[in-house]
Amino acid sequence: MKLNIPKNIAEIIPYPPGKPQDELEREYGITESIKLASNENSWGPSPKAVAAINDMLTGLHRYPDGSSYYLTHGIAEWVGMSPEEIVLGNGSNEVIEFLVKAFVRTGDEVITSHPSFLMYQKFVQVRGGSNIVIELRGMDHNLEAIAAAVTERTRLIFLDNPNNPCATLITKERFAEFLTQLPESIIVVLDEAYIDFVDPAERIDVQALIHNPDGIPAVVALRTFSKAFGLAGLRVGYGIMHTDIASLLHRVRQPFNINLPGQVGALAALDDQEHYNKTMSGTKEGLHWLIEQVQALGCRPYPSSTNFFLIDVRGDATALYEAMLHKGVIVRSMKAYGYPDYIRITVGTQTENTRFVNALKDCLQELSYV
Ligand SMILES: Cc1ncc(COP(=O)(O)O)c(C=O)c1O
Repeated sequence: MKLNIPKNIAEIIPYPPGKPQDELEREYGITESIKLASNENSWGPSPKAVAAINDMLTGLHRYPDGSSYYLTHGIAEWVGMSPEEIVLGNGSNEVIEFLVKAFVRTGDEVITSHPSFLMYQKFVQVRGGSNIVIELRGMDHNLEAIAAAVTERTRLIFLDNPNNPCATLITKERFAEFLTQLPESIIVVLDEAYIDFVDPAERIDVQALIHNPDGIPAVVALRTFSKAFGLAGLRVGYGIMHTDIASLLHRVRQPFNINLPGQVGALAALDDQEHYNKTMSGTKEGLHWLIEQVQALGCRPYPSSTNFFLIDVRGDATALYEAMLHKGVIVRSMKAYGYPDYIRITVGTQTENTRFVNALKDCLQELSYV
């Protein structure tokens, strides 16, 4: 075999896969581990989604509806937009890929922040585009530096809002000011994977920006069923955008990109207000409690607008991550993101949060961090 490997593909660092939880348990000789590492929904999937999926399983021999008609209409109603302004993806990840596929050619530039969600840059590399990476200022997107980095080759700007991993939010005022500094020809993508956890009064009115695009760049907002709705395993996300952009993204997608359980489950989850409310109130209470507890242990928690937060553990985060793993608590070390003393944790149920705090207390003592 003699492969001719394109340079841009060879240079891609694969997404860190992580081990299955069962495998970690076997390796570390632990049982009943808890995972607070991936910002998932700790209250499980929507029971209505599970029931709807169970009911459709005997129809699995059929292809799904290529237009995801019912789900698209359900989402349109949920977000207050028309179905023509919605594009569904196999996770919001896939909508990121559609945007890059549709708008980025070799040599075009895409601006992202560091640290932020890793996938934006990977899709750009696949297309042979150039990633222009702007460091966060403190823990916030540096919108001034991003605006200053725009050139005539810039096609897209990706902003995760709230940011992952820092959990910070762009204010409405800063965003409005930012848009005035940009040429109309580029697209600003607001990745709102965690927007459900944000106080509605603090959310950017993306619907208004999409409906009134005169004099500003196009804004696309990305949403997902992986977080607030507890359906990360189903892989359903969507973007809301101007119809001119939506019609282009439909040209680059596969006809059946949302599978049958995904269409049925996500639609049922939209109708499960009880599960949604439980997730929202549980997250809010859990976050508040965890921040107090972590502070009392001598660590420095960072304020969060979402269902995860950063903790400065005042020592090597990877050693702490390993020590926590031995106690069956899986968190995320932020060393690879450039924060060697920080871990990121997802808010869990009260039982999980209590286990996390107890394990953290023991590990901090074992490692003599505080
Ligand atoms: C900021 C951000 N955007 C997008 C995603 C991916 O979401 P999805 O599961 O819809 O592909 C994640 C997942 O963790 C995320 O943190």
